[in-house]
Amino acid sequence: MKILVINGPNLNNLGKREPGYYGVKTLTDIEDLIQKKAQDLDTLVEFFQSNHEGSIVDCIQTEAQDADGIVINAGALTHYGISLRDALADSRLPFIEVHLSNIHARETFRHHSVVAELAVGQIAGLGYKGYLYALEFLVEQIKESRVA
Ligand code: DQA
Repeated sequence: MKILVINGPNLNNLGKREPGYYGVKTLTDIEDLIQKKAQDLDTLVEFFQSNHEGSIVDCIQTEAQDADGIVINAGALTHYGISLRDALADSRLPFIEVHLSNIHARETFRHHSVVAELAVGQIAGLGYKGYLYALEFLVEQIKESRVA
């Protein structure tokens, strides 16, 4: 099984970016932890981060055919990235939306996600652990759907 783990704009700056919201771990720290979790789950993960919506769309278009699911923190694109939403819809892959911070407890413009209604679910406010829970749940769900 292969899961794409995609991070959007500004998440390359984790570790130094607003640690009160996003924690002190860098994206590399988090990806290392995801990689370890993936090994435990006997799953392959492929990482992608970009500050550009079109590059994320390109990634989904290119990689989705070879993948089984997506864990995505789309950063600010969550709130307005319609071409990202369309690419996720077109991929037909199950995905889980992750946010390090609790977007529902922040500014009103962060409360709405343009991808949420397509997602299997959303995890917000659990810090970097949200990625690990998302991966675990998605892998379990895909395995179960294959047996059913
Ligand atoms: C974020 C929340 C978004 O509103 C913000 O633009 C981000 C990070 C989070 O992980 O909490 O870049 O997705």
